Amino acid sequence: MKKVILLGFMGSGKSTLGRRIHAATGIQFVDLDTWIEEWQGRSIREIFAKEGEMAFREMEHQALHQLQSQLSGDWLLACGGGTPCFGGNMDLLNSIGTTIYLKVSPKELARRIFPGKEHRPLIANYEQDELEEFIRDLLGKREAYYERAHLILNENEVGSWFKEFLEK
Ligand code: S3P
Repeated sequence: MKKVILLGFMGSGKSTLGRRIHAATGIQFVDLDTWIEEWQGRSIREIFAKEGEMAFREMEHQALHQLQSQLSGDWLLACGGGTPCFGGNMDLLNSIGTTIYLKVSPKELARRIFPGKEHRPLIANYEQDELEEFIRDLLGKREAYYERAHLILNENEVGSWFKEFLEK
């Protein structure tokens, strides 16, 4: 069975890789942020603005439990950047599938996420020159969670992992 969970900071490529695998294999792909938005009938940005981050973290935790009982067969899940770092979620993720941390440098993450920053409440107010430092700082706090993943892929390893995954 293929039960794969993609983790990593905002901009690490979780959703992009999930969509690529889905397109190549047809394996069911769930993006956790999209799941929450459909369940709640509003955007992540609205949830943060109206109820704050902690209410979002509670929804995120509940959504993982919903998925745990609803997913069957082969599936892929792309988490939000903060998912593994709250509410014991990393233990839960490690118990339901193979977790993969997509490890990307702060500089590259900043380059990728600056253009669409208004969709991501945690970074919406940062200017380009402050963003890399913010990422470095938050990543420093989050990495202990991410590094508990079953597999860690650096940027230059994703392509060969993808090829191998398709061959299995
Ligand atoms: C967050 C990342 C976002 C989304 C929310 C909070 C985070 O997901 O869950 O804005 O705490 O890093 P992406 O990593 O898919 O952008």
